[in-house]
Amino acid sequence: MFQDFTNKVVIVTGASQGIGAGVAKQFAKNEAKVVLVARTLQKLEPVRNEIGAVCNAEMFLCPADVSRMDEIVALRDQVLQQYGTVDVIVNCAGVTMKKQIVDMSVEEWDTVIDTNLKSVFMMAKVFGRDLFRDSGTDAGKFIAIGSVGSTLSIPSSGAYCASKGGLVQLVKVLANEWAESRVHVNAICPGYIATPLSDGVLNVPGVMKRVISRIPVGAIGSVDDIAHATLFLSSQEANYITGTCLPVDGGFTSAAYTTHN
Ligand SMILES: NC(=O)c1ccc[n+]([C@@H]2O[C@H](COP(=O)([O-])OP(=O)(O)OC[C@H]3O[C@@H](n4cnc5c(N)ncnc54)[C@H](OP(=O)(O)O)[C@@H]3O)[C@@H](O)[C@H]2O)c1
Repeated sequence: MFQDFTNKVVIVTGASQGIGAGVAKQFAKNEAKVVLVARTLQKLEPVRNEIGAVCNAEMFLCPADVSRMDEIVALRDQVLQQYGTVDVIVNCAGVTMKKQIVDMSVEEWDTVIDTNLKSVFMMAKVFGRDLFRDSGTDAGKFIAIGSVGSTLSIPSSGAYCASKGGLVQLVKVLANEWAESRVHVNAICPGYIATPLSDGVLNVPGVMKRVISRIPVGAIGSVDDIAHATLFLSSQEANYITGTCLPVDGGFTSAAYTTHN
């Protein structure tokens, strides 16, 4: 059982679908006030309705492009005006671009790096001091979603792997810089999780079987698998954990091969 997140203000980026929507739902079910962020308001509204159908949590929809500094600054203004504080930030927004390096344009490279990596730097820069805590209050939490591509190479995903590898290093430096201010910073590195993003990869004939054969537990993960790990790292029970990257991948990155190849 995780701590009660009652009255905690939790910002989740990339909350309009997939992992971010699943993370937002679990925080809402645990009584947090959840700020749902993605670029498109029309995609955030059905998520709020779906969550609202299963719990009474307070939700605040804030459309913003997290690859843009001006929109993150505007997001901070809205959140502080609404709640006056922030306790947890979960950086889920991400994109991929399946192209070999020689075929990738500079603009495509920039889009992936700006969305997956620079956004986390800018969220940290803009919101960092709002998360700082004194010794009498619960620790602040800053979480970023990496990938198996943080440590492994994935062909045709050069920008994606570079962004996710950089994200893990950024998390370690932030954790070090913010430890004295009682903000804990961690990454979660999901394996293959069923979402719109992974659909394009997994729905190619034969790929699903090949991928599953490489996963020791023999199954694709769910958004709840990532959400549960996120809630744990965001809880006060995880206060001695900072600067780490938690793989949530069914054993994928720990295995040379599986028993069910
Ligand atoms: N699914 C997997 O197997 C898997 C595995 C490892 C890591 N991950 C990582 O987990 C995270 C979530 O992945 P997912 O599978 O849930 O992806 P997804 O289903 O494609 O969802 C991505 C979310 O990010 C938002 N987004 C994209 N660009 C944005 C921007 N510039 N500003 C604000 N929001 C933006 C999207 O909403 P809008 O388009 O409305 O902005 C959407 O809500 C990503 O960082 C991804 O790299 C996923």
